[in-house]
Amino acid sequence: MASDPPDKSPPLAVAVLISGSGSNLQALIDAQQAGELPIDIRVVISNRADAYGLTRAANAGIETKVLSHKGFPSRAEYDQALAALLREFDPGLVVLAGFMRILTPELVARFHGRMFNIHPSLLPKYPGLHTHQRALDAGDAEHGATVHFVTDELDGGPRVLQARVPVLPGDDAERLAARVLEQEHRIYPLAVRWFATGRLRLDHAGRVLLDGRVLTEPADLADIARD
Ligand code: GRF
Repeated sequence: MASDPPDKSPPLAVAVLISGSGSNLQALIDAQQAGELPIDIRVVISNRADAYGLTRAANAGIETKVLSHKGFPSRAEYDQALAALLREFDPGLVVLAGFMRILTPELVARFHGRMFNIHPSLLPKYPGLHTHQRALDAGDAEHGATVHFVTDELDGGPRVLQARVPVLPGDDAERLAARVLEQEHRIYPLAVRWFATGRLRLDHAGRVLLDGRVLTEPADLADIARD
């Protein structure tokens, strides 16, 4: 990670959206505080007031906002309010980190090529919920997590980076989820770092470019670790 050339440009303004524990948010905060991630997390927004991630953000001195979906008559109106809130912070990247809401196409379009999600499966396998149980039920030998750009297709945007874990004898969904989450905490800061340092982008054709090369398959953490 430390091998990138020094970068004099200002840190990338980031907004992180959460609904729960915020352990992926914590991984970003930790990497930023360790000097490994040139980002400025300007705001953490939660749709739930009781999300523990808000405490993590406050502990790190990051501004927090709660925008509850309750009381909004429609998804479109909630997302308009969310877009207005995001605009106040002018993020160059929006990071979905366990934000448990489906976004409208209008909001997604506003941040096209500037919004990441992390999903606990080896996409395109198992978009949606209950990914760990589904991998177990299918008898998969491996499982994992994926960072991808967000598009209108739920968990279907261009994939950037994956990490794999073996499914072990005796695994249940909880144990498997914990093993996957550890890897999430490695790949999310890395993908954000690539974006923040200008190494990663989505081109007009919707292809992922890393260091100027088209990724036909997502990068695999195991290959990077070997570099
Ligand atoms: C993670 O498993 C992530 O992949 C999924 O939601 C979970 C969020 O966990 N999108 P945390 O709130 O970051 O701890």
